[in-house]
Amino acid sequence: MVEYDKRAFINRRVHSLLGLIPVGLFLLEHLFMNAHAMHGSEIYNGRVEFLVSLPFVWALELFFIFLPLALHALYGLWIVFTGRWNTHAWRTERNWSYVLQRISGVVVLAYVAWHVWQTKVWSLQAAAGGHPDFFVRMQDLLAVPWVLALYVVGVGAAVYHFANGMWNFCITWGVTLTRASQQRAIWFWALVGLVLFVLGVSSLLSFNGLWPDSPGI
Ligand code: HEM
Repeated sequence: MVEYDKRAFINRRVHSLLGLIPVGLFLLEHLFMNAHAMHGSEIYNGRVEFLVSLPFVWALELFFIFLPLALHALYGLWIVFTGRWNTHAWRTERNWSYVLQRISGVVVLAYVAWHVWQTKVWSLQAAAGGHPDFFVRMQDLLAVPWVLALYVVGVGAAVYHFANGMWNFCITWGVTLTRASQQRAIWFWALVGLVLFVLGVSSLLSFNGLWPDSPGI
């Protein structure tokens, strides 16, 4: 293998691995943590405060979330802008999933930047003036219909990107080698994506009591 191919191969593998560990695992943790919104403000704020009070939380966030996501996103952008878009030449299902994987990556990047600005950056400012109430913050943000709509799009893009990415991941890492196993994996990851999407949207709706049985306070 020539030197360049070897480097490109390793870069692709590192990029692929970062999509699952730790970025994908963080996405799962984040969606499950936010589902506590269904139980009202006290339980939700308790969970958030537990997480933000962990020892060395800044190092955990920097090395296990921010840097891996930044590396995955930067190399992902490079793939998006140097890859070939060949849906017009080959109109197959897999080509569309290849294109949607890239489009959803770019949407996720914009969404994550906006979301971090509205939550993390806000909480750092709010902490200076007292005790930030995360539940009320999300409630205020999501009370605006277009913000709620964009959050649904952002969560949808992240979940699609993760589930479709995991389908590819299983092929890349030799988990699904036969055509039949790849076919079964489509259904498996589609189901995982659907469950995560419902979990994400129900959490978003719970902040203002729009999900059945959610107290909304
Ligand atoms: C919630 C955040 C994200 C998660 C959980 C995530 C997860 C994943 C996973 C699991 C894969 C499959 C790896 C593989 O193909 O073997 C993947 C691929 C990919 N990701 Fe992400 N990702 C995220 C954010 C981003 C962002 C912000 C970008 C920036 C554009 C991006 C661009 C890409 C691209 C282009 C691929 C396809 C790589 C290829 O087919 O060669 N991702 N991602």
